Amino acid sequence: MASTIAVIGTGYVGLTTGACFAHLGHTVTCADIVEAKVSSLQRGEIPIHEAGLEEIVRTGMDNGKLSFVLGSEQAVGGAEFVYLCVPTPQTADGSADLRALTAAVEEISPHLQPGTVVVNKSTVPVGSTLLVEQALGRADIPVVSNPEFLREGSAVDDFLHPDRVVIGSDDQAAADRVASLYADCGAPIMLTDPASAETCKYAANAFLATKLSFANAIAAVCEAVGADVNDVLLGMGYDHRIGHEFLRPGPGWGGSCLPKDSTAIISIADGAGYDFALMRGVVEANRQQFDRIVRKVESVVPLDDASVGVLGIAFKAGTDDTRESPAIEVMKRLVAKGATVKAYDPAVTSLDLHGVDVVDNAYAACDGVSAIVVATEWDEFTSLDLDRVGDLVAERNLIDARNLLDRVALRQRGFTYQGVGRS
Ligand code: UGA
Repeated sequence: MASTIAVIGTGYVGLTTGACFAHLGHTVTCADIVEAKVSSLQRGEIPIHEAGLEEIVRTGMDNGKLSFVLGSEQAVGGAEFVYLCVPTPQTADGSADLRALTAAVEEISPHLQPGTVVVNKSTVPVGSTLLVEQALGRADIPVVSNPEFLREGSAVDDFLHPDRVVIGSDDQAAADRVASLYADCGAPIMLTDPASAETCKYAANAFLATKLSFANAIAAVCEAVGADVNDVLLGMGYDHRIGHEFLRPGPGWGGSCLPKDSTAIISIADGAGYDFALMRGVVEANRQQFDRIVRKVESVVPLDDASVGVLGIAFKAGTDDTRESPAIEVMKRLVAKGATVKAYDPAVTSLDLHGVDVVDNAYAACDGVSAIVVATEWDEFTSLDLDRVGDLVAERNLIDARNLLDRVALRQRGFTYQGVGRS
């Protein structure tokens, strides 16, 4: 059954949620407080790089199922559901800043019709459903937690074909109504209490981060004992209890979610009297991974005064997002040690980082450099003309932090090649 939904916040979660609900047949109004953003969305211009999003936004707008408004008041009046998708950034002590969330809730409260379900999709500390209820101050409005599990770059596909939908509420009828919105997704729908739903979100991201730090640590072990991490992880992954996904070693993990949520769960646990030492180790292993990549560069070229080409700036391929990007962590360390960097990314055209010059193609990033670092796993880098790269560089050194390039072809051309976890 089609419903009327308001979405507050048009970041990648809010915009994807709104556009996908419209795609599923619901009538959706998305609200944001940034005027320029709303105007460009009203023209069908999408501010983020997200596969398939522009298409479903335009279709939704064309068939009248999706619209954008400035400010939440206009959006929530006739809504049966209000989805809160506002940012919850990390504060200096690692906890989540909930000011945008409470401000949004206080603003919408007087305009909600009785029985509207307020659904929180922002990632919030355990207990925040209660906080939202308090900020609303309305006994006639149930609040439900419905965390998102969307990966940047494949958010639309993840929304429309989720592994699961998690819904947390003490109000069974409200939870059932939220579940009905996902009726056509064909995914398991799990109904639970709010604290469990909120914890599930953090625990899932923290576990993914743990899996990645483990893969990177195994890569370090492989280097030490002369094993090949690709084969080791392949062999492990065939065990269905482990699985192959999310085991690719790299320069460390980043993005707007894994680092933030890993730190947040440590802080949440701490506040509740549990020292989450395992997770602190996971975060520390990630920091060490950035350092390990830099040491690989240093092992072939003294960094003082060196020019280094870095291929990739985004935190992963398929997005232009540079938040907490491992590529940037590596670049910062290179610059701190005296190097200058020429960086190229197919989706990122500028970066305000001292010592880093962003160039507009991969070959320009290789021109005259003493070492190349592959930092993001863009497909484009696998089809580089290696002869041309060899002619351009000052010295033939390549550090492949994503195990992406053809090491045999590179060595045949006289490059020193260092991957992650394999010789
Ligand atoms: C992550 C989670 O995967 C989503 O399920 C979650 O909903 C989202 O956070 C969120 O909380 O909003 P995302 O931040 O888009 O999604 O990024 P991931 O695809 O998880 O990648 C995170 C980092 O791990 C990237 O730096 C990526 O390059 C790295 N990674 C990932 C690896 O190094 N190896 C892998 O095998 C996979």
